[in-house]
Amino acid sequence: MKILVTGGAGYIGSHTAKLLKHTGHTPIVYDNLSTGWLEWVRYGPFVYGDMRDEECLYRALAGFKVEAVIHFAAKALVEESTRMPEEYLDVNVGGTVKLLKAMKRAGVRRLVFSSSPVLLSSDSAFLLSCPLASLLTFSPSSTNFSL
Ligand SMILES: NC(=O)c1ccc[n+]([C@@H]2O[C@H](COP(=O)([O-])OP(=O)(O)OC[C@H]3O[C@@H](n4cnc5c(N)ncnc54)[C@H](O)[C@@H]3O)[C@@H](O)[C@H]2O)c1
Repeated sequence: MKILVTGGAGYIGSHTAKLLKHTGHTPIVYDNLSTGWLEWVRYGPFVYGDMRDEECLYRALAGFKVEAVIHFAAKALVEESTRMPEEYLDVNVGGTVKLLKAMKRAGVRRLVFSSSPVLLSSDSAFLLSCPLASLLTFSPSSTNFSL
């Protein structure tokens, strides 16, 4: 299966790309290298792009005929997030919305979303109040979503 790994040049994403390759899949890494490393992209094609660029995401999905997405691209530094909350909202929430829109356009319906633990808490009221909820079917006991 061709799988777009957003944030695939980062810590968790690069290990996921390695595992995907070793289990017979083709990982296509999508990353802006803000905290990731090009040297860690070794297991399939690389697309340099930002999560907030919906057109670039769409071209990657359609161009590689992607069948599923694993979404790791995010800003994830706690201290920095307290100094730059707008940037974190823009990338982590706004970027995820752009990804979902690009997936919908490209007809890609499978998504695994790596979030911070807060989204996976038993407090489903938080999730249901966030803008992504209207776009997703979500099971709080897993990280699987469907569009
Ligand atoms: N590391 C952990 O222990 C851990 C635990 C639970 C959840 N997570 C979550 O997993 C995800 C990845 O974490 P990580 O530790 O691999 O972080 P990381 O910083 O190593 O990887 C994030 C990747 O996303 C890329 N990226 C960031 N902003 C981008 C943007 N605007 N457009 C495109 N690419 C962008 C970075 O360049 C980097 O390669 C995060 O959502 C994090 O909250 C991590």
